[in-house]
Amino acid sequence: MFAYKGDVLHTPTPDRFEVFEDGYVVVDDEGTVIDVVSSLPKAYADADLTIVDRSGCLIIPGFNDLHVHAPQYPLAGLGFDYELLDWLEKYTFPAESKYADLAMADHWYRRFITAMWSAGTLRFSAFATLHNESTLRLMELCQQSGLKPVVGKVNMDRNAPDYLVESTQASLAGTEELIRKSRETTPDVGFIVTPRFVPSTTEALMEGLGELVERYRLPVQSHLDESRDEIAWVRELHPDVPSYAEVYERYGLMPRNRTIMAHCVWLTDRERDVLREREVWLTHCAQSNLDLSSGIMPVRRNLDAGLKVCVASDVAGSHEPDMNRHIVMSVEASKAKTFEAGCERDRPLRLSEAFHMATKVPGSFFGKVGSFEPGYEFDALVVREDESPLDLSPQERLERFIYTGDDRDIKERYVSGRLIPQPFEDER
Ligand code: GUN
Ligand code: FE
Repeated sequence: MFAYKGDVLHTPTPDRFEVFEDGYVVVDDEGTVIDVVSSLPKAYADADLTIVDRSGCLIIPGFNDLHVHAPQYPLAGLGFDYELLDWLEKYTFPAESKYADLAMADHWYRRFITAMWSAGTLRFSAFATLHNESTLRLMELCQQSGLKPVVGKVNMDRNAPDYLVESTQASLAGTEELIRKSRETTPDVGFIVTPRFVPSTTEALMEGLGELVERYRLPVQSHLDESRDEIAWVRELHPDVPSYAEVYERYGLMPRNRTIMAHCVWLTDRERDVLREREVWLTHCAQSNLDLSSGIMPVRRNLDAGLKVCVASDVAGSHEPDMNRHIVMSVEASKAKTFEAGCERDRPLRLSEAFHMATKVPGSFFGKVGSFEPGYEFDALVVREDESPLDLSPQERLERFIYTGDDRDIKERYVSGRLIPQPFEDER
């Protein structure tokens, strides 16, 4: 057993940080949290217990990012005078087409994984590209890194340039092959079915993917209600379906408690009911939604509607991977939304809520992850001692780290109790 000693903070509930100043997280040999305490009870004195002394440091749950595009990492910061559909055509599709080259993919996927590690993002759900070989390589590199993400080959068989499109049959066959291969070679990196978004996928493709979801009991990720032009396009393509969300539902692409829908900026109440009933994780990508002029999600309204809302990056619809930046953006965006609503209806997000949405809510996609309650996997960041001349409490130090800190402040990263060194040393 191990006892990690330091200033421990987490958010079992969204309303406040639970703080154990100079406390301990007790973890068993399998990497599961047994206890989180202010002082070690006598019972532990006799146990075979190794103290890992990080006194003066913060010990917090690792970040979980349920929406990120791995191949778009080299694109970060480009093209934000455009809105979504033009940006996809002018920047994203050309960039993703380069991943047909396995050597190029290998290099940039190493850099991407290193960026996730640096940022303290220990688990994530990534879109790859439609290329089978480089998608498998991404999964293998993730497996080597010690991080525990899920990854999906992107399915797209219509409304895409001829240099980045597959036939329906090839897309389905490639997906099934990757499901099988990854089950053999990447035990810690799961496969997630990834139709790009409704406009990119024919009905036949969605139907076939829905069958794979059912046959292999897989999770699904896609985009929903991101920009108004996109929504109008979906309405034209599927005039017979009452809402965008229900297109995914109709084709079996919204398995209960296994689905991630990115953005959800412009949900209708009808769609809120569908997402609640299907227990979908909504990813709130506030920075991306501003970078691409998509809009601002009414986070408070979605929370009040009982939806599971996470903070996510959407790299490279956004310009940086670091989850502490996205926590801040979510708070700032919700404050802007409050002004818009006349300061009455929507209470802005509190920092503890946004932190909860970047740790425990997205962590629950992976199981018991994102908190230090007993039974949770010990996924943790150790944040270095504070040098401020002010006499700050642990919570104030965490606030400063979230608002102003970066990878240089993260001393250690643990996944399921295992210390994860920097992957791919030469790639930063
Ligand atoms: N919708 C369809 N594809 C994409 C993508 O790559 N990024 C974003 N932000 N939205 C999308
Ligand atoms: Fe996205």
